[in-house]
Amino acid sequence: MKKPNNHILVIFGASGDLTYRKLIPAVFDLFNQNVLPEKFAILGLGRTQLSNDAFRKKMEEGIDKFALNNEGNSKNNQKKEFLKKLNYYGFNTKEESEYAGFKDHLLKLNAEVGTENNFIFYLATPPSMYTIIPCHLAKHGLSNEDDGFKRLIVEKPFGYDLETALKLNESLLKNFNEEQLYRIDHYLGKETVQNLLVTRFSNAIYEPLWNRNYVSHVEITSSENIGVGNRGGYYEGSGALRDMVQNHLLLIAGLVGMEPPALINSNSIRNEIVKVLQSIRPIKEEEVENYVIRGQYIGSTIKGQPVKGYRDEQGVDPESRTETYVAMKFFIDNMRWANVPFYIRTGKMLPTRVTEVVIHFKPTPHHLFASNSSITQQQNQLVIRIQPDEGLLLKFGMKVPGAGFNVQNVNMDFHYSELADTYLPSAYERLLHDCMLGDSTLYSRGDAVEAAWKFVKPIQEAWKKNDQIKIHGYPAGTWGPDVADDLIEEPHLTWRYPCKNLANDGNYCEL
Ligand SMILES: NC(=O)c1ccc[n+]([C@@H]2O[C@H](COP(=O)([O-])OP(=O)(O)OC[C@H]3O[C@@H](n4cnc5c(N)ncnc54)[C@H](OP(=O)(O)O)[C@@H]3O)[C@@H](O)[C@H]2O)c1
Repeated sequence: MKKPNNHILVIFGASGDLTYRKLIPAVFDLFNQNVLPEKFAILGLGRTQLSNDAFRKKMEEGIDKFALNNEGNSKNNQKKEFLKKLNYYGFNTKEESEYAGFKDHLLKLNAEVGTENNFIFYLATPPSMYTIIPCHLAKHGLSNEDDGFKRLIVEKPFGYDLETALKLNESLLKNFNEEQLYRIDHYLGKETVQNLLVTRFSNAIYEPLWNRNYVSHVEITSSENIGVGNRGGYYEGSGALRDMVQNHLLLIAGLVGMEPPALINSNSIRNEIVKVLQSIRPIKEEEVENYVIRGQYIGSTIKGQPVKGYRDEQGVDPESRTETYVAMKFFIDNMRWANVPFYIRTGKMLPTRVTEVVIHFKPTPHHLFASNSSITQQQNQLVIRIQPDEGLLLKFGMKVPGAGFNVQNVNMDFHYSELADTYLPSAYERLLHDCMLGDSTLYSRGDAVEAAWKFVKPIQEAWKKNDQIKIHGYPAGTWGPDVADDLIEEPHLTWRYPCKNLANDGNYCEL
């Protein structure tokens, strides 16, 4: 990996959980690989008053617990060296009057370390600060790139609906240019998402088939086998549509659906993703019921153990109408995908944790072996597994050995882990390093965020206004409401079920 230019990483919210669990361990892992610049420092900020030593001690704990590679004596020496680069400055980041003191401190550190006025500002604070901090930074000349780069990393959520997303973008762009903005969504850092681009655009066997002529439909699933745990309070204000569909699933649809970019660079790739998002046919408010299914997990028994329903979780309203499951169908209105349905679904408390894309190819035009085969309509499937076991699975028909022409579905299965025994960086490690290098490919661009919210808006509106739209209760440990199967146009097709239901209560209901 290349080395970035000298700089200081300034973390707002450095006394918080994200810094402790993810950011500092990720930067330490970069340090271990010798891919940080020669002159580099971290300046942690927060209202909590901490000395440099106290901050270093806390971060050392985070490194010990969460860094990928932190064992052995040589690593201990490395850690000591790394911790010297950590500094802390306590001030109220809300108060503009306190920024002069902070700026002095930053510039002093900059002069001491020799970081040439290159700064990355990381907003690891509550979202309410995302409009305040950039504004104060700009007022104090800290967004001005005349003397060195100034980049701003913004954590998700990027708004709660179209209006708040537009306001956030407007406010960020008043103080920083789009090229300086890095909206981080750690889901995007996954190696296999990038691998999707390689699968699509470097393989002559797939490329010609990747369109309406050969693909019957596309399915994207992202399931979790856990509930909301102790995050019920947060989830109540979010739900699966906001938490997963608007960002992650639509981005995957963008990567699956996009045209080949002119170049493998940030803007070319992001331009193509945005075009897909902008081409998704809007679902009108009055059509939402026909295209979108929402659900909520209810109590069940998994492997003999009782499991709570969503409404019984801590911090959740007992009458909650927050969806823990969404399945939907939409179309991408462009030349490549005209009339090819895209089906996406996500949910909590499903039987397993998996994120996968399934490309369902059309059957051959003439079913030569139909009369001899148990499979009436042979459809090849390419399953792109994104997590947990990244890889590709191709399903195709083979003759059953022996007499006759019996066709059976067989698998050609490739696991990414078999490719090489290389070190796979964590998502934050990869993304932080990209930002240090000025590469924003894997970060979300403002127009893509807005296009996704625009698509989601009528669904949010319909659910808000129309109580009659059902919330389907599904037993925890099953694949969600069975009515989701009705979304799939072909009567003989269902979603792909990567594994069986864990709970067979059959206790589906309307909530
Ligand atoms: N934790 C994760 O794994 C994760 C994952 C994805 C996204 N995120 C996002 O990352 C951001 C930070 O998450 P977190 O889990 O680290 O949160 P957290 O533990 O609550 O930490 C928030 C930090 O912001 C600081 N802060 C600054 N101004 C504040 C204000 N006016 N009110 C309250 N706190 C203020 C707090 O420090 P002081 O009190 O010292 O000022 C604290 O260090 C959030 O926006 C979250 O949505 C977190």
